[in-house]
Amino acid sequence: MSKSASTAAPVSGTNNLEAFWMPFTANRQFKKNPRMFVGAKDMHYTTGDGRQVLDGTAGLWCCNAGHGRPKIVEAVQNQVAELDYAPAFQMGHPKAFELAARLAALMPAPLDHVFFTNSGSESVDTALKIALAYQRAIGQGTRTRLIGRERGYHGVGFGGISVGGIVANRRTFGTMLTGVDHLPHTHDISRNAFTRGEPDHGAEYAEELIRIIQLHDPSTIAAVIVEPVAGSTGVLIPPKGYLKRLRDICDQHGILLIFDEVITGFGRLGTPFATDFFGVTPDLVTTAKGITSGVIPMGAVFCTSDIYQAFMTGPEHMIELFHGYTYSAHPIACAAALATLDTYEEEGLLTRAAELSQYWEDALHSLKDCPHVIDIRNLGLIGAIELEPIAGEPTKRAFSAFLKAYEDGLMIRTTGDIIALSPPLIISKDQIDELFSILRSVLNAID
Ligand SMILES: Cc1ncc(COP(=O)(O)O)c(C=O)c1O
Repeated sequence: MSKSASTAAPVSGTNNLEAFWMPFTANRQFKKNPRMFVGAKDMHYTTGDGRQVLDGTAGLWCCNAGHGRPKIVEAVQNQVAELDYAPAFQMGHPKAFELAARLAALMPAPLDHVFFTNSGSESVDTALKIALAYQRAIGQGTRTRLIGRERGYHGVGFGGISVGGIVANRRTFGTMLTGVDHLPHTHDISRNAFTRGEPDHGAEYAEELIRIIQLHDPSTIAAVIVEPVAGSTGVLIPPKGYLKRLRDICDQHGILLIFDEVITGFGRLGTPFATDFFGVTPDLVTTAKGITSGVIPMGAVFCTSDIYQAFMTGPEHMIELFHGYTYSAHPIACAAALATLDTYEEEGLLTRAAELSQYWEDALHSLKDCPHVIDIRNLGLIGAIELEPIAGEPTKRAFSAFLKAYEDGLMIRTTGDIIALSPPLIISKDQIDELFSILRSVLNAID
């Protein structure tokens, strides 16, 4: 097929928007009316037309330290000149080991081993594979089933969409992994609307795991994976006691529990990880995003010593786990992550959300009287505003809010008809006020 006139000749600069097939984007809408960022510093993006846009979402839940932070910038610049790349297969470089040790020290014991990846999706696939291989290593090879949850988001790999539960992310991609079942989601506006913090109702949804276990028999189930706070589906805060109950049921039946902390990791709830916040320790934790404050792609899977040690058998010259990525523990990502951890520590960012969360909660819930709002929910520095969908046109109202907010100098994120907020952890109280004042006028302006 011949190329159309508009794409046949190379076009330089940003005039040709056609070639880039944008991810999770309404491509035709965007390309008619593009929204371009050309710079970022601290809490703000700079647009192509020179405007400042307040970052209400830490990029995509990742720039936890804000933008253009000097220590991270410098670390990346120095690393690329010093050691640009080193393989992590059968070779090492010092920063990979330093980073793993620092991460392990940050995560509650016994989650003291770290496997590096390049994204949240890869972390999820890695954790699922480790769970399956671990069960086999300990003589439980019949445990091959994986349990996810409705409305769960675990990235876009085939493992992640199989255990994930967002219909649009699944329906066009065939049969995915077999042997997967799903818990029900816990979202229940009829009982929990406008809850501040953890909802009172819904811990009983954890009992569904028993039903699934009885259906399949525990000897067939390897692992359960959930987001402690579900983010991408529109912020679902776990009901009080729910996660603890999942942990207990998994323990009773020899099932591994995986927390997907790709968004909750690195200070989002006011503790380093959600596992600290909820006081529930899983067997594996997936992370990414905030590990480098979004500066360089990186992910990390944490597992317990027991899991790691189960693989450390057989002849010493043999590879123990046939899994890894060309860019696992990439030197530049390791340097970025070490500088990010320094920045978090120096500025107390991993606990800052705890100091701000009450102020954040009050400001967020002050929008209760705005038009179309049917629920508001929050935890740590996460907030969600659920809007009544326009009849017959789901997602349109929230998307209008997104476009209007961008025009008015604020970046928000929308999923379905839900506005999700997760600003960088450096946000000031004045900026929280500014964020919600813009959002109030946006909600008053849209249809
Ligand atoms: C809980 C969770 N898991 C996995 C992912 C996928 O991460 P990535 O986009 O880096 O592959 C995300 C991304 O938003 C996420 O929120």
